[in-house]
Amino acid sequence: MNRISQLAIFGLGLALFTTAALADPSTTSTPPATLAWAAQHFKDTCSSCHGADGAHPIPLPGNPPPILAGQYRDYLVQALMEYRDGQRQNIIMAPQAKALTDAQVRALAAYISSLPTPLHTLPLQEFGH
Ligand code: HEC
Repeated sequence: MNRISQLAIFGLGLALFTTAALADPSTTSTPPATLAWAAQHFKDTCSSCHGADGAHPIPLPGNPPPILAGQYRDYLVQALMEYRDGQRQNIIMAPQAKALTDAQVRALAAYISSLPTPLHTLPLQEFGH
C-alpha cells in the first residue's frame, strides 16, 4: 500500500469516527433529562442557594430561598415553568430556569420531590380554626 492510500484510509477512518462521536447522544449539548441528570444539575446549580439536600437553604437577605425537598412535584413543575416563562417574576430564579426544557423541569421536580423533607402540614388550630 502506498503512502497516499494509507492517508486516504486514515482520513476515512477519522471521518467515520467523528460522525459516530457526533451521533452519540452522550456527546450532544442537551443531556437526557433523567433523574441522574437532575441530581447532578441540582448539585451543580441549585444547591448553592437551596442547600445540598434541598432542605437547608442559605439565609439570603430580603429573598430567602425556600425549602424545596419533598415539595409536591406538580407544584415544582409549575413554579419552574412560570419562572422560565415569566408568569412568576423573580430576578434570582428567572435565570436559573431560563434554559430548562420541559423534560428537564419534570426531571428536576421528580428528583426534588423525592428528597427527605422537613415540610409538614400545620394543624388547623394553629390558624385559629
Ligand atoms: C442564587 C440562588 C438560587 C439558585 C442558584 C437557585 N435558586 Fe431557586 N430560589 C431562590 C430564591 C431566592 C427563591 C424565592 C424566589 C421567589 O420569591 O419567588 C427560589 C425559589 C425557587 C422555587 C419556588 C419554590 C416555592 O416554594 O415556590 C423553586 C421550585 C426553585 N427555586 C427551584 C430551583 C432550582 C431547580 C434551581 C436550580 C436549577 C434553583 N432553584 C436555583 C434562589 C435560588
